Amino acid sequence: MGHDLTFEFFDFTDGIDPSAAHVALPFDVVHVWRRPLLPDASVLEQEQKLLCDEERERALRYRVDSARNAFLLTRGALRLLLANYLGESPQQLRFRLTEYGKPLLDRVTDLHFNVSHTDGLVLLAFVRKHRVGVDVEKIRTQPDALKLARRFFSDKERRELENLPTDALPAGFFRCWSRKEAYIKASGKGLSLPLNEFDVSVKEHPGQILLATRPDPGEARRWFLRDVPVGSEYAAAIAIGDVAE
Ligand SMILES: CC(C)(COP(=O)(O)OP(=O)(O)OC[C@H]1O[C@@H](n2cnc3c(N)ncnc32)[C@H](O)[C@@H]1OP(=O)(O)O)[C@@H](O)C(=O)NCCC(=O)NCCS
Repeated sequence: MGHDLTFEFFDFTDGIDPSAAHVALPFDVVHVWRRPLLPDASVLEQEQKLLCDEERERALRYRVDSARNAFLLTRGALRLLLANYLGESPQQLRFRLTEYGKPLLDRVTDLHFNVSHTDGLVLLAFVRKHRVGVDVEKIRTQPDALKLARRFFSDKERRELENLPTDALPAGFFRCWSRKEAYIKASGKGLSLPLNEFDVSVKEHPGQILLATRPDPGEARRWFLRDVPVGSEYAAAIAIGDVAE
């Protein structure tokens, strides 16, 4: 799984018209778009116009500007890019949520997507006929890193993190976090998938990222995980799963 896919990375810049860029998504290719979160007032206003009423209402409910801007710029880019791949207008697109809250297109299509945003950066991933999950985290000092690892991560991951030198812990912790989060987002089960039922590597350049799944060890072979290049301030990963129904 995944070895037959090619990953292509693009930078989404404010004011981009993806249809003018003629970026098509072939079957054996995964596209990952990186968008810096630069809340420019005119861009926010433009992209707000692409959203449906429900999304605009949701945006208004965010009390913190940065959270509202992240939502608007993520949804705006998502609509622009999906519209380009599907040959539709961004405003026409409708989403639905799975029972675990994963947004999907509300129509029959082989196009799958997932998005993630963190302080300063948005990632948007697209692929045909596969499940996909993406996650990006800003690397920051996390005083409770080992406590959180003991509580949420698997024993193997916790041990690997405990063995890291102190100065390598923040990057290691968020590497582990983003890889786990990409997998649970791809699975579509969100946090209902127990975080200690699978092991990811904590290493910076591992041969393989998803090391084990429990209780079904065969599950690990049905997924492909890799890191997304986002610079040293961030940790990011993408998970691709078996052909979606
Ligand atoms: C909601 C969740 C899927 C991701 O949350 P997050 O990491 O805070 O947020 P991200 O920016 O990566 O992703 C949010 C986007 O994922 C999508 N999403 C929401 N629920 C989802 C789900 N169940 N599965 C996949 N994608 C989902 C949405 O598009 C959402 O964007 P939006 O809020 O702008 O609509 C969920 O996994 C969660 O709550 N995680 C909390 C973090 C945590 O405790 N992680 C443990 C350490 S691994």
